[in-house]
Amino acid sequence: YFHKDPRDAELPSDGMMGKFDRQQLQRGFQVYKEVCAACHGMKYVSFYQLTDLGYSEAEVKAIANQWAIEVPSVNPDTGEAATRKALVSDRFPSPYPNETAARAANNNAYPPDLSLITEARHDGANYVYSLLTGYANADTYRNAEGKPVPNDAKPPQGLHFNPYFANLNIAMPAPLVSDGQVTYADGTKATVDQMAKDVSAFLVWTAEPTLEARHRAGWAVLVFLLIATVLAYMAYRNIWANAK
Ligand code: HEM
Repeated sequence: YFHKDPRDAELPSDGMMGKFDRQQLQRGFQVYKEVCAACHGMKYVSFYQLTDLGYSEAEVKAIANQWAIEVPSVNPDTGEAATRKALVSDRFPSPYPNETAARAANNNAYPPDLSLITEARHDGANYVYSLLTGYANADTYRNAEGKPVPNDAKPPQGLHFNPYFANLNIAMPAPLVSDGQVTYADGTKATVDQMAKDVSAFLVWTAEPTLEARHRAGWAVLVFLLIATVLAYMAYRNIWANAK
């Protein structure tokens, strides 16, 4: 059998104590912006939220201005849908006007919105990381038992072999293919592995920007329950202290 479970991306947001690494989230956003945004939107994420990652309001405004939002009117000169620059109050639009256009550009596959993808897929962050780094040549690939891919499981024209994808053959061509594909503002070396990790970390944040508050609340609840338990036990001892 050729399908593989995800490898661990070891993100700083993992686990009960997990916190985001803002520098990493900014790098991940850069990968989204420069690579993934060509095909994937993020309709549940607003530009203004990027201030959470440590960007200033002016920077967020400048980022938003790089996206175009369609407005419900037609450009009289070209007959195409008119657009305006995105505002910080807008959400990340899909790069395609509609699903038909999206499929037409992608071998009839539909690039899903990425806002919630790390929640929508099982073990999402590790899955995205593994998917992005898991492309392989079906002709030379061997599974854990050393078996080659049977011919009827090899990718048909226009699909790409990836053992982490549910049916092994995915319409998305490997988006991260060469080291240095993006130039990180913080000087981090942009290996394929690093870019895949960073964009996965970023997509954990887009799906759950309040993860840190949830982790903090969890600890507060545990401390409260511990104190409440001690108090309840002491009250019990006190109430029954004189009983024979
Ligand atoms: C599917 C992530 C770049 C086209 C997907 C999926 C993820 C993903 C998580 C869903 C797989 C699933 O259904 O389980 C990313 C990331 C990118 C990126 C993180 C940037 C690093 C691109 C680019 C294109 C593209 C640049 C277009 C050239 C597609 C298509 C699908 C897809 C067509 C649907 C595949 C299918 O259902 O067979 N992508 N993607 N993606 N992506 Fe991307």
